This record gives sequence, C-alpha cells and structure tokens, in this order.
Amino acid sequence: MSQATLTPAVPKPAHIPDALVCDFDMFNDPGLLADPHERILELLRTAPAVFWTPRNGGHWVLMSHEANFTASRDTETFSSEFIPPEKLAMLKTMLPPGSPHIPIAVPINLDPPEHTKYRMPLNRVFSPKAIAALKDSIRQLAGELIDKVKADGRCEFMTAIAEPLPVQVFLKMLGLPLSRWEEYRELVREHLAASNLDPRRMMQSMMKIAASMRPTMLERRDNPQDDILSMLWKVEVDGKPTTIEDMENYGVLLFIAGLDTVMNGMGHGVRHLARNPELQAQLRANPELVGEATEELLRRYTFTVPPRILAKDVEFMGAPMKKGDKAMLYLPAADLDAREFADPERFDLNRENKVHIAFNAGPHRCLGSHLARVELQVLYEEMLARLPTFRLDPARPPKFHGGHVVGVDVLHLIWDV
Ligand code: HEM
Repeated sequence: MSQATLTPAVPKPAHIPDALVCDFDMFNDPGLLADPHERILELLRTAPAVFWTPRNGGHWVLMSHEANFTASRDTETFSSEFIPPEKLAMLKTMLPPGSPHIPIAVPINLDPPEHTKYRMPLNRVFSPKAIAALKDSIRQLAGELIDKVKADGRCEFMTAIAEPLPVQVFLKMLGLPLSRWEEYRELVREHLAASNLDPRRMMQSMMKIAASMRPTMLERRDNPQDDILSMLWKVEVDGKPTTIEDMENYGVLLFIAGLDTVMNGMGHGVRHLARNPELQAQLRANPELVGEATEELLRRYTFTVPPRILAKDVEFMGAPMKKGDKAMLYLPAADLDAREFADPERFDLNRENKVHIAFNAGPHRCLGSHLARVELQVLYEEMLARLPTFRLDPARPPKFHGGHVVGVDVLHLIWDV
C-alpha cells in the first residue's frame, strides 16, 4: 500500500511534545493491513505507552495495559458521550415533525449514571444462563455451515462461515425471521463499509438497521414470545416502560456489537489454528482444552479499539490531554504488553496470567462476552471435529482491515478430501 492511501496528517497542537508523537493511521497503516498483530507488537516495541498521532483528525492512542485498564474505568475523564444527551435532545427538536427516530447505540455511548439505567435491563438478557440455552442451536448452525463446504476441500472462511454464523445466531436470539438472513448479511456489509469515520453514512446505516427490525419489534410487543425482543419490551428503562425508540436504540447496538465483533474474532482464531497444525492436533486429542484455547486466542488476537473523548484537561501517564481530545483504547496492544503478559507473542495454554481485556474493563465491559465465548468455542470445536487438518491456502493470502475492529476480510482455507 502506498503512502497516498493514508488519511492526511493534521498539524500537531502546540501542547503535545514531539516525543509523544507517532505517525500511526489506525485505519490504513500498511503494516497493520499486512499482518495486524505483528504490527501492533512492533508498535509496542517502538512507540510510547501513550502517544498522539496526526492521522484521522489527530488523536491519542493508549497502548500499555496499564493505560487502557486505568482509562476504561475512569469515565469522568475518558467519556463515551461523543454527542452528549442534551445536545442530542436539542438536535432532535430541530428535525421536522414526523422524522424517523435516529438511533443511538445505548448504553455504549452514555456515561454513568445515565449509562447504568440503560445497561441494567440488558444484564438479564445476556446472563450466562440465558446464553447457555442457545448453545445447542449455535452448534447446529455451525455444523451445517461447515458441512456445506467440507467436500470442497477449501473455503473462503469469512464468507462461508464467519459471517453467516453470528448473523443467524443473532436473528434466532432476537426472534427475527431466519429467512431474512441474507438481507441482514447485506446490512452488516453496508454498515461495515460505512464505519469509516463518516457520521452521515453511519447514521443512515443505523436507521436502515432499525427500520429492518421495526415490524418484528412491534409484532413482539403485541404477541410476546421467548426471545430478546419480547423480553426487552417487558423491562423498564429508568422506571418507564420501554418505547419503540428504546427498542431501536438497543436493536442497533446489539446488531453492531454482536455481528462485526464475533465474525472477526473467528477470523483471527481460525487463522491461528490454520497456521499451527500441531495445535489443531493437540486440541483434537484434548477437546476439553478448547475453552482455554478460546481465551488465549482472545488475548493473543484482541481486536477491538473503543474510542473515548476527553471530558476535561488532564495529565495522563505523562501525556498532556485536553478536553475534547479523542483517545483510542488500543486493547489489542494492551493484551500484548510484555509488562503485563510474559512473552506475549507466544500462544500459551498454561499462561499464569489469563486475565485479558479483549472485552475491556470498567462499566462498559462487554455485555455479550458469554455469548461471544460460546460462539467462538463452539465454532472451534466443530471445525476441529468435522474437518481434517486445515491450513492457509498459500496461493491466496489473507486480507485484513484496521479501524475500531481490527479484523479479517478474506481467509482462504484448504484441507485434504
Ligand atoms: C468476540 C466478540 C466480542 C468482543 C471482542 C467484544 C468487545 C467489546 C468491548 C471491548 C466492549 C467495550 C466497549 C467500550 O468500552 O466502549 C463491548 C461492549 C459491548 N458489547 Fe461486546 N464484544 C464482542 C461480542 C459481543 C456480542 C456477541 C454482543 C451481543 C450481542 C456484545 C454486546 C456488547 C454490548 C451491549 C456492549 C456495551 C456495553 C456497555 O456499554 O455497557 N458484544 N464489547
């Protein structure tokens, strides 16, 4: 990739010392696109623990485990409210009457105490017990997708399995019709294409997602069933009954948080397995280790980068941050930080410290972590049980993307038939 594809660099604000600047384009860095976690390991060796980059409008990047862990719990300094609720309410009053609701992803874009009101109703929905009930159907869906390509001796893993599996799980869980899964896949693609710091396209894609769910949401309000949409109608948000706007906000968040993430986690994990036939052999012989392997894969290939906005001026770990600055919690680096994890490059099932922050820490810690773990673990189990040793197709190398979800676009696998 050439330099020309990098986003333009903005001038460095005077208060930022030269020593804290590192030119890193989190969307288009060529090294990141070539092999993401190799590049992140290199950055950890060469860049400051907290640095400022002039790319993508200029922002801070928190690299060390300590910086990420501290910032994720300090919501008074590192806010998630990119558009404060008061400003949003004002914007809404400026829209013509009858305009469709513009969904906002709650609770992820709220700070405590408001955040807590919207997060609480979701706790029950995502409890380990509620998720355990889904395990068999996830296994069945995974098995069907793998069996479809088995006789071919090859597949492009992302299109054949990693994308359809979480989409189908999501539809089933929310109680949306499974027959519409192709349409939902298309919405995922559109949403991903819009996720490039273009707020207008992003807003349009969120409105489309909400519109696609609305008829089923209304239907479940009148005829509740055993699914999440029906459950959400029964909860109270801040002591008030759920409204269709609340439902759309939740629906959009669950869509974004649940589909894009799991799919890319599968891509990173399966790539690692495909490059390590001896690990596949070990796990086939000891399937009880797949749970541990799932956790270590999450640590070794942590892939989400939650954004924050500075709510006040602060000197954070030696970095002079100003109110309104943007900061990225670069969790993929935190989980490869040698100060926290000994020999972080090594995939090690016997690691002493297993407490990674792939799901972040603090009040926004991922609500879907139980579901994500079940989806990932079941997928690895079924891949190992149903396919012989699979490897990367040497003629068609994988492709990756950067951004807030550092992920896999293309992953060609081959195996003997
Ligand atoms: C491997 C897959 C996943 C990863 C790595 C992941 C990671 C994360 C991270 C890092 C956050 C914190 C964001 C922040 O601090 O701003 C988060 C929040 C969240 N995730 Fe996940 N996630 C995954 C899958 C899921 C799934 C499957 C769901 C549900 C369908 C889900 C639902 C949520 C929700 C609702 C939040 C917002 C929590 C809050 O703001 O209080 N996630 N996730």
